[in-house]
Amino acid sequence: MEIKSIINKAVQENELSKNEIVKLLQIEEEEILEYLYQQADKVRKKYHGDDVHLRGIIEFSSYCKRDCYYCGLRKGNNVLKRYQLKTEDIITQALEGVKLGYKTIVLQSGEDDYDAEKIAYIVKEIKAKADTAITLCVGERSFDDYRLWKEAGADRYLLKHETADKDLYQRLHPGMKYEDRIERLIFLKELGFQTGSGNIIGLPGQSQESLAEDILLFKELKMDMIGIGPFIPHQETPLKDENKGTVEMTLKVLAITRLLLPLSHLPATTALGSIDNYGRQKALQAGANVVMPNITASKYRSRYEIYPAKICIEEKAADCRQCIGGIINSLGRIVAIDRGDSLYI
Ligand code: 5AD
Ligand code: FES
Repeated sequence: MEIKSIINKAVQENELSKNEIVKLLQIEEEEILEYLYQQADKVRKKYHGDDVHLRGIIEFSSYCKRDCYYCGLRKGNNVLKRYQLKTEDIITQALEGVKLGYKTIVLQSGEDDYDAEKIAYIVKEIKAKADTAITLCVGERSFDDYRLWKEAGADRYLLKHETADKDLYQRLHPGMKYEDRIERLIFLKELGFQTGSGNIIGLPGQSQESLAEDILLFKELKMDMIGIGPFIPHQETPLKDENKGTVEMTLKVLAITRLLLPLSHLPATTALGSIDNYGRQKALQAGANVVMPNITASKYRSRYEIYPAKICIEEKAADCRQCIGGIINSLGRIVAIDRGDSLYI
């Protein structure tokens, strides 16, 4: 069977051409789809075992100077009540996350131009007080800022390229340049950050070819972490009437990415969990080995609305920690006790 032989080749060689990837993205038959997910699950098990790494995420500011067409935090959304956490509150929440057992704390915000020195201070303080990896996810900043944060002790950086279709990227990100994004990903990696990218599945106008290019780009850039989530239209954005991305296409891209990048850390994304009650479980069984539960103080959660119907809005950090532990164990997997650093080093 031709399609299965493409899957087998990917399992053995971790290489596929763009055309072959597109063929896998076009799979419709249930049995072959299951085969793809199973093979991705096997590759995950071979390289990562049954460990699932948890990254506790603090959404510390919802201010954003960008106007990305898909995102609920875009500056054009003047309905959103914005917030920005104070330095000391971020540190306190991070330390609470560590107490809950998280070995990685992710500090994420809109592109709010939070003072670079303050971020460096936060990183240093958390590092001085707790044994945890720190991931920053605050968008496009100057090379000097990235260097400052690396020197302060930050371990990882996330900056999703969102789509490898340059025209589409340009249309969805007014005033931004695709090249700037790629240049930063390369620079971050050179600086020694464990670097993550990712894409959005089902953006209006996105082709299967460009999804294949996303996967090839992850490989070319040797991304340590790759976040793959479905597009979810937000009422206060220009894309409000567009269709959302599908669970199936998201899982296909995830599974193929696992076959081609066996070493990378792939989260079961919150976005996938938000469009399907079992989205994260399905992802964990189709190649994913990471989950990123929310540890932001509850009162702010509803105000970080990147997309609607986001899960974990009412819960407290401890609730999510318990819930996710249950999910992981129910799949016969275990919560990892180590930091889950890059396997490329
Ligand atoms: N649907 C799905 N994902 C989204 N993101 C932003 N807006 C949306 C949306 N409407 C994702 C982007 C960004 C991450 C923080 O959230 O990929 O990098
Ligand atoms: Fe937050 Fe399940 S992870 S409620």
